[in-house]
Amino acid sequence: MAKLSPQRRLLKIFHPEGIPWLGTVVYNLVSGASIFQQSYEVIARDILSYCAQGSLLDIGTGPGWLLLKLHQQAPQMRLVGMDVSSAMVAQAQENILAAGLSDVIAVREGNASRIPFADGSFDIVVSTGSIHHWKDPITALNEIHRVLKPDSYALLYDVVSDIPAPILNEMAREFGKLKTVLFWLHGFEEPFYSRQNFERLADSTLFKVGQTKFVSVLCCLILKKPNSLSL
Ligand SMILES: C[S@@+](CC[C@H](N)C(=O)[O-])C[C@H]1O[C@@H](n2cnc3c(N)ncnc32)[C@H](O)[C@@H]1O
Repeated sequence: MAKLSPQRRLLKIFHPEGIPWLGTVVYNLVSGASIFQQSYEVIARDILSYCAQGSLLDIGTGPGWLLLKLHQQAPQMRLVGMDVSSAMVAQAQENILAAGLSDVIAVREGNASRIPFADGSFDIVVSTGSIHHWKDPITALNEIHRVLKPDSYALLYDVVSDIPAPILNEMAREFGKLKTVLFWLHGFEEPFYSRQNFERLADSTLFKVGQTKFVSVLCCLILKKPNSLSL
């Protein structure tokens, strides 16, 4: 298991990869709250600053909220969601149907370690709050590299275990101290990476190198598949 502290390595062993049915119901409700919805909007804007045309794959899409925000901001894009949990896929499909977008946004079951799409299928691959669940992140990152077109980005957003104090302070100003403390406490029961280990995940993959930045309270691992001509 790559680059986790011993305590978080232990957490990862017991932590389920796909979110089961009851967790899906709870997560769907919780992530409908304004603090999550605002964050999806900010992340969608960040994603579209890298690529706003063509096709996008969202891995571990959960209830599919990010796909809905992306469609609002870039209706021209072909959006596909994927999740290892069949309960989450059904939930995302229900949310997308309720938004009247089931002809436009597709969601299917699949594991990041065996992405059910052909080589070079996507102009961008994204993921939010999911990579810390993945049992084999190195294989998954190589799979992402395979399904990306050359000269394209993967953007993987997640909570890290060492969020800098100024970012937490900013969150407290925006959403209040209670939500910030609960969020911070949540970091002790999930196998989150530290920022450095998150960035270093890329070292042993086909991407070879990754960079991180913070987008609001989430850390984003930026990976680029080079154009084969520039290799
Ligand atoms: C915390 S939820 C985040 C959902 C959504 N991306 C969001 O930001 O609200 C993590 C999601 O990743 C999914 N997941 C976990 N491991 C996965 C894997 N190996 N491949 C695909 N999806 C995975 C889970 O089933 C769950 O729906």
